[in-house]
Amino acid sequence: MNFDTKINRKNTNSIKWDGHTRFKVDPSALPLWVADMDFKTLPEITQALNKQVEFGIYGYAFEPESYFEAIIHWMKRRHHWEVQKEWILTTPGVVSGLNACILAFTHENDSILIQEPVYHPFKNSINYNKRIPIINELVRNDTHYTINFEDFEKKIIENNVKLFILCSPHNPVGRVWLKEELIQMADICHKHNVIIVSDEIHMDFVFKGFEHHVLVDLKPEYKDFVITLVAPSKSFNLAAFKVSQLITPNKEFLEKVKHEYERLGFHGHNTFGLLACEVAYRQGDQYMDEVVEYIDKNIHYIKEYISNNLSQIKVMDIEGTYLLWLDFSALNLEQKSLIEFLEKNAKLWFNDGSIFGTSGKGFVRMNCATQKGIIIQALEQLNNALNDKVR
Ligand SMILES: Cc1ncc(COP(=O)(O)O)c(C=O)c1O
Repeated sequence: MNFDTKINRKNTNSIKWDGHTRFKVDPSALPLWVADMDFKTLPEITQALNKQVEFGIYGYAFEPESYFEAIIHWMKRRHHWEVQKEWILTTPGVVSGLNACILAFTHENDSILIQEPVYHPFKNSINYNKRIPIINELVRNDTHYTINFEDFEKKIIENNVKLFILCSPHNPVGRVWLKEELIQMADICHKHNVIIVSDEIHMDFVFKGFEHHVLVDLKPEYKDFVITLVAPSKSFNLAAFKVSQLITPNKEFLEKVKHEYERLGFHGHNTFGLLACEVAYRQGDQYMDEVVEYIDKNIHYIKEYISNNLSQIKVMDIEGTYLLWLDFSALNLEQKSLIEFLEKNAKLWFNDGSIFGTSGKGFVRMNCATQKGIIIQALEQLNNALNDKVR
């Protein structure tokens, strides 16, 4: 794949590239925010979709056997995880799975644990469903984040937590959790009867030297209380198809979640999404390896550029995901002024760090899944704006 060629995504109804008016952002700000990639997907996916389009009849569809096989083989090949077909529920997006689990396993006013800073729909989903978010703050040591296990357990006990939503790998702090960390968290949850929803959507984006561990597979007893959420949407840039998977060996859990979808009238699947998912997981190994390598190079470039030219910015370590967590607190700006400065002066559109939790103040999240030329342009714009500010 050639990931270097810039592709004009303007006027394609892209939230990222055409969302400026909708989100009231300076129209000339270069978008490096929402988590989709500026790369074309695997060509075999497009070919398969073209064939499907040409058929011309788009009636109700179910998942073919080959779709389940492709998922099962991908998880085994890439993650050494043996999934059974009966454990898989196709869902219209990971966030929908999250909400269905909240509805299925908790009641109004129940406490749900999350680890901020974290992907903001976690807290939104808890609040929308009138549950109580309980925060186990991640601990920052210079450029690296870890878990305060003592606080993790204390918060569970004190608030009678029913559910824990884990982000693994972690968006936005970029951690790929160690096996020991995962086990320690899951054992605490097991001890206190806390169900875990493990959002592993970023599982395929792990850089050299790190390994993603599927939580539910780490101990046999985790099969009873861990639900895993995955999708091909980040890995192969298929977010618009709204196809994801909720996987649990616990039959009773699966039935409860299915019931929540039925209550909302969700039935049937997007036939294009099913097909794209199948082709991705069947033929996407090389694409995946190459895209991770390309993003890794972008990240190295950014780190070097910042360390040579922009000493005001601190780059947090990134072990997985394509989202870089940048600390701008040395500029001593209020969060609103920081975002305004980046947007109006540097003409850059990042995610405001504060949406991920109060500990995200002073930070922004940068999407690195774009052409190197765009990364270079962004860094130069940032450098110029910061130089002008000093002058
Ligand atoms: C951790 C995490 N979960 C879920 C999603 C979105 O999933 P979906 O679009 O399938 O709802 C994202 C997207 O950025 C994410 O980072």
